[in-house]
Amino acid sequence: MTSALTHVASPDLGSRVENGKERYMTVHLNLTADEVLTTTRSVRKRLDFDRPVESDVIRECLEIAVQAPSASNRQDWHFIFVTDPEKRQHLADIYRRGAEISYAQRENEDLAFSEEKRRVRESSQYLIANMHRAPVLFIPCIEGRTDNAPIARQSSRWGTIVPAMWSFMLAARNRGLGTCLTTMHLNLEQEAAELLEIPYAEIMQVGLIPVAYTKGTDFKQAKRQPLESVLHWERW
Ligand SMILES: Cc1cc2nc3c(=O)[nH]c(=O)nc-3n(C[C@H](O)[C@H](O)[C@H](O)COP(=O)(O)O)c2cc1C
Repeated sequence: MTSALTHVASPDLGSRVENGKERYMTVHLNLTADEVLTTTRSVRKRLDFDRPVESDVIRECLEIAVQAPSASNRQDWHFIFVTDPEKRQHLADIYRRGAEISYAQRENEDLAFSEEKRRVRESSQYLIANMHRAPVLFIPCIEGRTDNAPIARQSSRWGTIVPAMWSFMLAARNRGLGTCLTTMHLNLEQEAAELLEIPYAEIMQVGLIPVAYTKGTDFKQAKRQPLESVLHWERW
């Protein structure tokens, strides 16, 4: 990996050679807030596994992420970034086995596959096969387990980590990085905790997110259900 980073306000995602050394440029796409919010997709097939991700750009995204709200401003979140190839391989293996558990549970409900479901499933399979190739695997964590906890406690725990996690993903998008929130490794959360020495009894993992530069930076707004099916005024 390169030592020197140049921060450029340009969509150029390449690297350049200077004094015989390859220098990667951290990138800022300068998207508007609305553009970032509407084009941060779950990126799987367009993750560039061959381009390293600098620790500086991860730190930059995390500085933004920790501006998110947290219950009682406790900020009792933790962010684990894994770059070690053996650990990534092990995590990817846990994810693959976790996915098998999830898919076995969903077998019946997925019998009637829509075209959209088929597309997502195919893309998910690609990520399952390639998770280990992402240069960085990100595991957001929160203090306090919610297993069998009352709903208010659950909301406080998940609500403290999810906004920060999503802010990280948005900040990453604006720097040419792609991410995809996944949760299926949590079927085997304890095994991942052992691998990464996370104190399982006190700390809950929230997801497993590959982080990599994207192939191209043009991502589109997604088609969603019409607002009429989810929007309620004054009453349900
Ligand atoms: C709570 C949650 C869990 C998810 N788990 C997975 C997962 O395990 N594997 C995966 O490939 N994508 C996962 N996704 C990504 C969704 O498939 C994706 O958000 C959805 O298809 C919409 O696509 P978009 O994010 O590009 O708009 C998850 C998303 C959320 C919000």
